[in-house]
Amino acid sequence: MGQVKSLFCPRCGRTYEPAGARESCEGCGAVLEVAVNLDGLGPAERDALLASPERGLFRWWPFLPLSDRACVVSLGEGDTPLLHAGRLGERLGLQRLYLKNDTVLPTGSLKDRSNAIGVSRAVELGVPLVAVVSTGNAAASVAAYAAAAGLRAVILLPCETAPGKIAQAAAHGAEIVAVNADYDLTARLFAAAVRAFGWYACLSNNPHRNEGKKSYAYELWEQLGGEVPEWLVHPTAGGLGVVATWKGFNELYTLGWIARLPRMVAAQAAACAPIVEAYRGGLPDVQPVSPKETVAESIRVGYPKSLGWRAVRDIRTSGGTAVALEEAEIIEARELLARHAGIYAEPAGAISLAAAARLRQEGIIGSHDLTICMITGHGLKQPELQGVPAPLPSPIEPTLDSLRKRLEQERPNAR
Ligand SMILES: Cc1ncc(COP(=O)(O)O)c(C=O)c1O
Repeated sequence: MGQVKSLFCPRCGRTYEPAGARESCEGCGAVLEVAVNLDGLGPAERDALLASPERGLFRWWPFLPLSDRACVVSLGEGDTPLLHAGRLGERLGLQRLYLKNDTVLPTGSLKDRSNAIGVSRAVELGVPLVAVVSTGNAAASVAAYAAAAGLRAVILLPCETAPGKIAQAAAHGAEIVAVNADYDLTARLFAAAVRAFGWYACLSNNPHRNEGKKSYAYELWEQLGGEVPEWLVHPTAGGLGVVATWKGFNELYTLGWIARLPRMVAAQAAACAPIVEAYRGGLPDVQPVSPKETVAESIRVGYPKSLGWRAVRDIRTSGGTAVALEEAEIIEARELLARHAGIYAEPAGAISLAAAARLRQEGIIGSHDLTICMITGHGLKQPELQGVPAPLPSPIEPTLDSLRKRLEQERPNAR
């Protein structure tokens, strides 16, 4: 079954034949979008999808932009837990706070949702090499999927990238090029390299790859038994999470499988918040910002050129909002997740919780609103932060008496 009906320009509406490798509109330059053929999906197909014993992202096959099951490259991504965070929610005044725990994806971040599709598409096209420019998580993810598919992977990274993420990508045998520049400059070099060398890019200007993050919508739909959240809060860099999740919910809405749509929220670090600035400024497109230092390094993208404008548009259409978080708020959210919900996230992956907490304090999110925070990256991705805030206490002698004394003296401060 070929699911792709056409490619179309989300800015000027031009349509293109599905075959071929075109990624952007020849008229206005916008990144194209895939229109998936949903015509054959009625109540019987819906019930069959829900009853299917198949797990993972590829169970949503009728919504995916692929045509050949034999080309699928899967590491078991998708179907991540949706956890009701009772203790944490009580603390924050959010009775219906849920955490979508994407830290458990195969390479530890949300990137596996899009790269499972991106690399499967590369296999369908028969290309020998996949390439990406990354703040770290996409590098590890593309490298892992390329390894599983037996493809060559070339990865450009800013030299400031966390060592854990570089090590992870390198372990999969990717060819890694560290560039003496920040992410935005490195991305410019990458774009020039794609033009010069004809690489297949596993990036947000790849319309097929972008469809993978729609899986958030289908999973949440199933996990919530058809109930639609009031608020969906996403850590945001290039904007794909917001854009694709919104698209997935819109597909379900068009099919009549849900009765209304959620409000989308983008969470960015105040140190680098181009989407928040465009949203607040009432602008139709994002303007580049110069990123400052932030612990949320994975979402430190100063110019989300490909999809930023769509994220701003979709946030507005959904009646959502965009929030810029201070460093202290991000660090606190990461600690709260670890201590009160049992999830160890990297700071960028925890920033959604910081945004939900802020919006609750401001009275924008109500205490009974069904609120989902996407937790998008594992804490072990940034091991250099593990010593924070308290260093390990000195070791004890191996006796029960020493242990008893230590437990009496040093109960961890139960915050
Ligand atoms: C941990 C983490 N969360 C969220 C994102 C945001 O992704 P986007 O807005 O591009 O979907 C990224 C992207 O690099 C990330 O690494």
